[in-house]
Amino acid sequence: LFAAVIALIGAPLVIPVLVGVVFILLYALAAQGKLHELSETTQQVSAQRNATLVESLSNLETVKTLRAESRLQGVWEKATAFLSRTSAQLRLVSTSVSNVAMWAQHTVAVCVILVGVYLIIDGNLTQGGLIAAYMLSSRAMAPVSQAAALLAQYHQSATALNSLNEVMQRPVERPEGKAFISRPVVRGEIRFDKASLRYPDEDRDALREVSLTIEPGEKVALLGRVGCGKTSLNKLLLGLYAPSAGAVMLDGVDLRQFDPLQLRRHIGYVPQDVSLFFGSLRDNIIAGGGSDGVDDEALLRAIKLSGLDSLVNAHPHGVDLQVGERGQMLSGGQRQAVAIARAMVHDPQILLLDEPTSSMDHASEEAFKASLKAYSHGKTLIVVTHRTSLLALVERIIVIDAGKVVADGPRDKVVEALRKGQIGRAN
Ligand SMILES: Nc1ncnc2c1ncn2[C@@H]1O[C@H](COP(=O)(O)OP(=O)(O)OP(=O)(O)O)[C@@H](O)[C@H]1O
Ligand SMILES: [Mg+2]
Repeated sequence: LFAAVIALIGAPLVIPVLVGVVFILLYALAAQGKLHELSETTQQVSAQRNATLVESLSNLETVKTLRAESRLQGVWEKATAFLSRTSAQLRLVSTSVSNVAMWAQHTVAVCVILVGVYLIIDGNLTQGGLIAAYMLSSRAMAPVSQAAALLAQYHQSATALNSLNEVMQRPVERPEGKAFISRPVVRGEIRFDKASLRYPDEDRDALREVSLTIEPGEKVALLGRVGCGKTSLNKLLLGLYAPSAGAVMLDGVDLRQFDPLQLRRHIGYVPQDVSLFFGSLRDNIIAGGGSDGVDDEALLRAIKLSGLDSLVNAHPHGVDLQVGERGQMLSGGQRQAVAIARAMVHDPQILLLDEPTSSMDHASEEAFKASLKAYSHGKTLIVVTHRTSLLALVERIIVIDAGKVVADGPRDKVVEALRKGQIGRAN
């Protein structure tokens, strides 16, 4: 509109205004690409830098024993220097947009006056007309340069919004509107039907077409070398990952149909690396009950079963003993016992133990074996182990190599075959 009125006053006066507008817009668009790139890098690097900080603070003792302080400090300093450089660039580019816009606005005003003066000399324009055109031209330019500055700011907000959206759009485990199959009671029959697992962003399967059936109440040991896929198999069974091919079933129901909360209610899982929560022993153990709540009787039973009773009885604070951040104030074996107690506190039908005694001494292991033997009566038990002593608990052994089942049979037969070296390697 402003341009039209200026054109009405004197057609040639429009030219500098239009040129100015086009120039500002072009510059702002050119700056966009650079801004986009810069704000993305800033975001990535600052995420990495925060990860370094959190990791080194939470692993302070490891950092010290490895004498990795200076290396981590180097990583941190590099990231910080890089961040300050990129954010200086970012600011430079975005302020340059508004400076250039300002400059263009002034140049346009000068040009309007120059052209206008010649028009007046030629008698094509009055003095009043020039003043009007001058005022109109600066009115016309102002919104354009404001828009350009806004465009520059827009980018930083857009990157932030994008990364937020990414988080929000991660698939949720229990999407609204999905009707899961509810099974308050299970028998504990587990079936893997040609189940493969490939971790995200990996190009190799961690499990390859694993097929096996474990009957309700059966006691099974899972053997295999380091990194062969035992823990991965556990994660499939817990529904932490979905098989990339094939299916995993509990009582004949595909785990993808199973309500994940209920599934994990049925499985008592002792993970290979235990991580406890800040709080008391009691807090940590009843965390295993989920949202169901745990009565004192169950708590005591779990404490006895896991062998924690000697610790609880010996300590003046008993079950209110504080475990510290991530359980740091307990010993490795004690942490493992807490993990066992919290896996069993809600009395699950399936017991899934990943190296449950790896930090225990012989006597505690024997005690745990005895109480587990009594407790697991009628329950499905799957125990991953490198220790031969736990094999006394099971009647069947499954051997995995490189993600494949290479042997599966009665305990004594498999042990015999293993000793004779008759069990091959998967290729
Ligand atoms: N979260 C993950 N992302 C990518 N790859 C993984 C992940 N977890 C495990 N892997 C890979 O999958 C393979 C199997 O790992 P898994 O933890 O199942 O081994 P494992 O049999 O439990 O070994 P260990 O006896 O040492 O506990 C390994 O090669 C490992 O590198
Ligand atoms: Mg493992």
